[in-house]
Amino acid sequence: MLKINKNYLQLNESYLFSTIARKIKAFTDEHPDKRVIRMGIGDVTRPLCGAVIDSLHDGVSEMASADTFRGYGPEQGYDFLRGAVQGYYASFGVNLDMNEIFISDGAKSDIGNILDIFDVDNTVLIPDPVYPVYVDTNMMAGRKILFMNANADNNFLPLPDESVKADIIYICSPNNPTGAVYDYDGLKKWVDYANDCGAVILFDAAYEAFVAEDRLPRSIYEIEGARRCAIELCSLSKTAGFTGTRCGYTVVPSQLVFDGVALNKLWLRRQTTKFNGVPYIVQKGAAAVFSPEGLVQVRENIDYYRRNAAVMTAAFDEMGVWYTGGKNSPYIWFKCPSDMKSWDFFDLLLNEQQVVGTPGAGFGRNGEGFFRLTAFGKYEDTVEAMERIKKLFATL
Ligand code: MLT
Repeated sequence: MLKINKNYLQLNESYLFSTIARKIKAFTDEHPDKRVIRMGIGDVTRPLCGAVIDSLHDGVSEMASADTFRGYGPEQGYDFLRGAVQGYYASFGVNLDMNEIFISDGAKSDIGNILDIFDVDNTVLIPDPVYPVYVDTNMMAGRKILFMNANADNNFLPLPDESVKADIIYICSPNNPTGAVYDYDGLKKWVDYANDCGAVILFDAAYEAFVAEDRLPRSIYEIEGARRCAIELCSLSKTAGFTGTRCGYTVVPSQLVFDGVALNKLWLRRQTTKFNGVPYIVQKGAAAVFSPEGLVQVRENIDYYRRNAAVMTAAFDEMGVWYTGGKNSPYIWFKCPSDMKSWDFFDLLLNEQQVVGTPGAGFGRNGEGFFRLTAFGKYEDTVEAMERIKKLFATL
């Protein structure tokens, strides 16, 4: 008789954002006349920029001609895109070898896939609250998970606890869900700790493009010693609006050697077996993100979202509400009013003001009593949503 992977039975029945989508649908089915403003899932609203669109069109035209048509591509990605990513890192002082860069269809997939190269018998250290994919993918494999406490006292930026030993450590900075960002000192502590324990850091840099202050690192490789302990996963979803187009990259430095084996070699072996690469057309579009013209255009879109974030933080400042994020991040993480629980506030905000956010409790136990809003909406909607939220807070 077939046996299923029973680890799946330990998961929450539904993925957080699927649960939220279901709740929104139930509300809109019942109230078709009400206009719901969505600030829940971190999905972008600005269209792809002109440089990317032109490059996608070029890719399509190439596929239409026998001379330029492409079939299977290199599993690690085309050199033109890996070279573009390499140039991007060099622009902020991080030198990578092209063979250390693997093109992916987004950070979420590789966050799960990368676990293939690690034994189940490793202890994982994950911040709480956290992007649920880190926890769920490890639960699916049956790995032992320890949580590090992120809370208002440490501004949701926990530092290593020397008495805890782990093998795989997750760090996301700028953080999803809290929008908090580690400075150089904070990340250095994690790098030193990982090198001391012989652990690997899985560094999620999906929100790096939102870092606006020079005092904050955008890549873990800006920290000395990180090439010996860290894999970096990044995505063009938030940087360049690729949530629906799908492209990202994973960096596995050649110095990462564990059990006498280079992780880069293992990951290459995994990818060549289980992955046939990102579509050529998508990689063409992605390469344009890093062109001089593309960089200016994606920056304009990020500035648009930053303006939204400024509207949101101004409203919370005005109301005197405690929050993190919004400054170097598209997420604002705030304390629910009147000590409400996250899901109660979610329902109240949806029912009373038709604004959707993400309940902090959906990101872990420490998220209870907090709430996340994204700045990825349309500007006019963001302004209106904040007016609605102010109105609701005034009644509580
Ligand atoms: C989020 O809302 O947390 C993100 O959009 C999810 C993701 O990037 O997969």
